[in-house]
Amino acid sequence: MAVEPVVYGASERPPRGDYARAGADYTCAQDYAAYSAADHDTYRRLYVRQAALLPGRACDAFISALPSLGASSHIPRFEEINERLHKATGWEIVGVPGLIPEVPFFTLLANRKFPVTDWIRRPQEFDYIVEPDVFHDLFGHVPLLFNPIFADHMQQYGQGGLKADGLDACELLSRLYWYTVEFGLIQQADGLRAYGAGILSSPGELQYAVESPEPQRLPLDIERVMRTRYKIDSFQQTYFVIDSFKTLFEKTAPDFAPVYARVRAMPELAADARPVAA
Ligand code: PHE
Ligand code: FE
Repeated sequence: MAVEPVVYGASERPPRGDYARAGADYTCAQDYAAYSAADHDTYRRLYVRQAALLPGRACDAFISALPSLGASSHIPRFEEINERLHKATGWEIVGVPGLIPEVPFFTLLANRKFPVTDWIRRPQEFDYIVEPDVFHDLFGHVPLLFNPIFADHMQQYGQGGLKADGLDACELLSRLYWYTVEFGLIQQADGLRAYGAGILSSPGELQYAVESPEPQRLPLDIERVMRTRYKIDSFQQTYFVIDSFKTLFEKTAPDFAPVYARVRAMPELAADARPVAA
């Protein structure tokens, strides 16, 4: 059965993945033979540029797990990463043709499977790409799946997503994903660091998020996050900071059903809204 592509946010272009390759669960085999020498070189150049920016900006857990992705010289084979990842935390990565709908996405996470787009950006998109590609998905997301607490959190998120779907609260929950898994900051003893994949896979935003005086940085507050809209095509104006992955795990552990109800009764906040009195 052919599955439909999916678009999130206000994108004008259709997503570019070939969804005819995907099964009913939206996964597909990594099409390794399809990568050209130029594709491998794009991956290598992205990796090298980004790796140089990590010290002092990426969290320790990310830096220590990054070598588990394998050599930077070419796009890794998903099976090779899986041999290491499965041993570390019981997670595995699965190929997908691009963004997938919410319920199949949550279902994969709930089963400790992380979907990774298999194609890589074109050379002219080297500095900026709106959609996730294999570099964003692998480099940005996979290292923290080697961390036991973060790995458990991601599975909880998948289960919570399936529950949110039944409560018509996917949009509220997606804001949590956005401001934590994609754009989260963590306060380490030696300074502020990034753990969100959207930051860690972007050279400009990695420096901006950690160092710029411009954006506001608030302690993670689940209700504040769920009220806050987000922009997908600019650096974030607001970042939320945790002090450990344990905090993230604990703050997201309570039943969200009453949280969604409370949040729905409050006005939404713009992405750049400054803190408001509760
Ligand atoms: N505790 C949330 C719920 O009850 C589920 C969840 C856990 C969501 C972790 C996100 C992250 O819905
Ligand atoms: Fe992502």
